[in-house]
Amino acid sequence: MSANPNRPIGVFDSGLGGLTVLGELVRALPGERFIYFGDTARVPYGAKSPRIVQRYSAEVADHLLTHDIKLLVIACNTATAHAEALLRDRLAQRETPVPVIGVIEPGVAALIKRSRNQRLGVLGTRSTIKSGEYARRILERKPEAQIFSKACPLFVPLVEEGWQDKRATRLIIQEYLSEMQREEVDTVVLGCTHYPLLKSAIQSEFPGLELVDSSRETAAAVADLLQAEELQSEAAAPGAGNLRIELTDLTDQMNDLENLLAGIPVAKIEEVSLG
Ligand code: DGL
Repeated sequence: MSANPNRPIGVFDSGLGGLTVLGELVRALPGERFIYFGDTARVPYGAKSPRIVQRYSAEVADHLLTHDIKLLVIACNTATAHAEALLRDRLAQRETPVPVIGVIEPGVAALIKRSRNQRLGVLGTRSTIKSGEYARRILERKPEAQIFSKACPLFVPLVEEGWQDKRATRLIIQEYLSEMQREEVDTVVLGCTHYPLLKSAIQSEFPGLELVDSSRETAAAVADLLQAEELQSEAAAPGAGNLRIELTDLTDQMNDLENLLAGIPVAKIEEVSLG
């Protein structure tokens, strides 16, 4: 393995939702090469136990290392919650250590920064909320913060059905978030890959609420890290050769893929099996 800065960046998610993070990365870093890995055969991770999420995440990271990645971005909140520390240790032990960035830390930093009253909301999958990882990291930075966490298991299927604008979705948003409004939460982090796609629906139900999209914050954190570690690509020209997608199951989700990619050119989409 070399320290060549032109190596690709590996981006990992349980499925296709992490394309929201990839989109921000491609926009922020047009000269970089990316390999996106979606574990579509085993999605969702959000209802699985920490042990299983850790095992799957380690398998995916080992696979991405075979592509000589220079940096691993864990786009999945659930995988970040359970496996970031594990992957960071594992990848630090390489001959050429590979840094790891998860989506939680950048989201937490922005959440605290944007809130005026430090009454903070966290939305995520059941597994992410149960991990307590967002709350732990918020309190590390801001011990006096009041945290209101809510698992929103219905959000992922609603987004996957393309139901962002339906009445049922608005009612479910009300159900999940009205307690936060009662508690005078002023800022909420969208702690799941799919939730940025509900941003305008949430915003129209709760216009006063500030929403933190961790995908944007993560792209900015990746740009900073590449600069700090002098890992920026020297390639001048962005282009279709810069993105390759690997999925563990290629199904009719390909339609979703096209929607989520929103015009990002892809060089190659491949099905791969792990192990
Ligand atoms: N990618 C997951 C996350 O961000 C959501 C989908 C899943 O449950 O696997 O937590």
